[in-house]
Amino acid sequence: MEQKDRKIYEIKNFDLDNKHLLLYETLFHNANGYLGVRSNFEEGYPDSFRTIRGEYINGFYDFAEMKQAENLYGLRNEKQIMLNVADTQGIRLTVGGELFSMFYGTVLESTRQLDMKNGVSVRRVVWRSPGQKEMEIRIIRMASFKMLPLFTIEYRIRPLNFSGPMELCSTHRGDVRNSFSSGDPRVASKAIRHLCVETTEFLPNGVSVITSKAIKSGLTVVSAVTNRLSKPAAKFQETQGGTAAQTFRFSLTQGEETVLTKYTILCDSAHFSDCRSRAETLMKQAVSVPLSHWYNAQRHYLKRFWETGDVRLMGNPPLQNAITFDLYQLIQSVGKDPHSNVAAKGLSGEGYEGHYFWDTEMYIEPYFLLTRPELAKSLISYRYATLDIARENAKTLGHKKGALFPWRTIMGKECSGYFPSGTAQYHIDGDIAYSVVNYYLVTKDFNFIVRCGAEILFETARLWLDVGNYHNGQFYINCVTGPDEYTCLVNNNYYTNAIAKHNLKWAVRCYRILKKRNKLAPLAQRLNLTEEEIESFQKAANHMYLPYDPELDINPQDDSFLNKKRWDVQNTPPENFPLLLHYHPLCLYRYQVCKQADTVLAHFVLEDEQKLSTMRHSYDYYEKITTHDSSLSTCIFCIMAARLGMTEKAYDYFGESAHIDLNDTYGNTRDGIHVANMGGMYMAIVYGFGGLRIKEDGLHLAPVLPKEWDGYEFNLRQEDTLMEVCVNRGFYRITLLRGTAKPLFLYGKKYLLKDQLKHPLEKWGTKS
Ligand code: BGC
Repeated sequence: MEQKDRKIYEIKNFDLDNKHLLLYETLFHNANGYLGVRSNFEEGYPDSFRTIRGEYINGFYDFAEMKQAENLYGLRNEKQIMLNVADTQGIRLTVGGELFSMFYGTVLESTRQLDMKNGVSVRRVVWRSPGQKEMEIRIIRMASFKMLPLFTIEYRIRPLNFSGPMELCSTHRGDVRNSFSSGDPRVASKAIRHLCVETTEFLPNGVSVITSKAIKSGLTVVSAVTNRLSKPAAKFQETQGGTAAQTFRFSLTQGEETVLTKYTILCDSAHFSDCRSRAETLMKQAVSVPLSHWYNAQRHYLKRFWETGDVRLMGNPPLQNAITFDLYQLIQSVGKDPHSNVAAKGLSGEGYEGHYFWDTEMYIEPYFLLTRPELAKSLISYRYATLDIARENAKTLGHKKGALFPWRTIMGKECSGYFPSGTAQYHIDGDIAYSVVNYYLVTKDFNFIVRCGAEILFETARLWLDVGNYHNGQFYINCVTGPDEYTCLVNNNYYTNAIAKHNLKWAVRCYRILKKRNKLAPLAQRLNLTEEEIESFQKAANHMYLPYDPELDINPQDDSFLNKKRWDVQNTPPENFPLLLHYHPLCLYRYQVCKQADTVLAHFVLEDEQKLSTMRHSYDYYEKITTHDSSLSTCIFCIMAARLGMTEKAYDYFGESAHIDLNDTYGNTRDGIHVANMGGMYMAIVYGFGGLRIKEDGLHLAPVLPKEWDGYEFNLRQEDTLMEVCVNRGFYRITLLRGTAKPLFLYGKKYLLKDQLKHPLEKWGTKS
């Protein structure tokens, strides 16, 4: 990465081949958690190029058919997909009859920037037309954090060696489709029309408004666009077949800069009850103040974001740049209201069709919990709002009680077409419960637990009781899939059983806390929850079977895992990765081979279940057979390597995780960023090198420092407290920046953080 200021990711004289353009569409996208716009060229590409031209709203979807080859009972025939809502990016510049495009004439200079301090992306081009006219074009785009439905484009033109006539045509297109690829299961396979344009019109004030309806979900989206030119011009407007266009003709003198500001407002009926009038009102507000007002608000928002959310790394600028980029993507991707969550690709592309997975709870939410807890709360509120659908889902799967959250979804209904590595991942219930517990432990927000959290804990605990059964006095959970999607439909997946045990235990804890604080009765009554049922939770937790192999001193991933052949990962040809694109699932299922961290993940999130030696032996065992074909894997191996005293190994894994999208490691960043990995990268610093664990008695830290770094720093929020953790060569310092004193465990020893604690670094995790 070529960059001086770490908050600016910049590329100069960038490649114009199709592969790179698709990659940059993702890397430079603008999003604010509500809307996202891929960084497509306003003027488009040549016809022979492929582009994924997209504008999305988090949580705006249509239903789509999901054909099952054999229509067995309960299999889903319908899924949701996040829709490409409108194309408001189009701006065509014509200079004396010549159309601007980076693919004609000569590009004399070009730069793309993602400015993470100001919250904008910039494309600057110095261009010589085929007719030898030279001009500088600077385009600044922003997805406003202050007014979430607002997206702006500032299009600045300066003629360098001529004066003369120009034309700018700004388009607003409602007739759009989603992108597709027939060969990759991770994106949609067909281009189907989902949005139907209902009206295209110009309001008397020059705002074009397109109203479209999603054919099956019936949801409406309104896009409103208006343009302002900085100088007088002849103005024309027309609407045609779902497109509204506004054209400006004017004349420019050499050296003079002219600016076209294009405002877009996107409002949908999943978020706003009257999205049409809301869009008009917001547009009025947006244009009632100069653009600088929105830029200032953006800067202010991000100043606050970086104040608590930044992670500083000393002694490795390229890695620091990657960390900054990843953290920025997290705030761009996270839904800011309970109507939406975090799609696996954020709002940067259509990979995984805009679905939410366990990625949120296990990889992304920890960042917000520890830096912006109100966003973690909103993510849990989203799950709570879908609890009834999860209850229905459990019924469909034959459960008499409880709720089963969908493996992938937008509005709450299950969307996974291939159940062995989809719906069968019951651990999602335990993951969501785990996030509720951590939210409570960090914030002590008891009211929220009473209102939402407790019900989630009880209903998920109920499900485990219904899924599992006793065998030889132990509680078994049969026929589920753990996080590793190369091993499906197994009995007693270690991760699943461990997280179910945690879920059951905490349902009991929560019941007791509510009872003690006199808050239990209404909920218990509504859910028909009895003491006997709570006792049955406790019993199942106490007797939960956790596979253990005494000879190897490891936790087998499941009951049959160790009976299988081992896949020779080291000697598999590199072109055969990811294995899922080259081997039949059944072939993979018969081997000891892991797509991603599974038992190793369980050892990170529930470390108190095992001795250090078991965790270490398990780590060594699984490392050899893990392909990291999922981007959710290297960050977890980093965390556990650090935990087990292998700091150098952790350092290597960290480098891989931090650069996944910037280096396009998986070759599919064109379809969107890997948000879970970005959250995992954060966890790798804070939980990995910082050694953070959230426990009932408080926060635990055990910092280590790779020899390649001079130090690192991050902040943590806990209840009313904000603390700063600085780790340097030889020592670490923890400072209470705000709030009241808190107990803190450092390498297992209890302290009280009153103002500052400064100690030498210790060796951690090497004993077994
Ligand atoms: C991983 C899942 C993950 C999904 C979405 C898959 O490749 O195996 O664990 O939830 O991607 O990121």
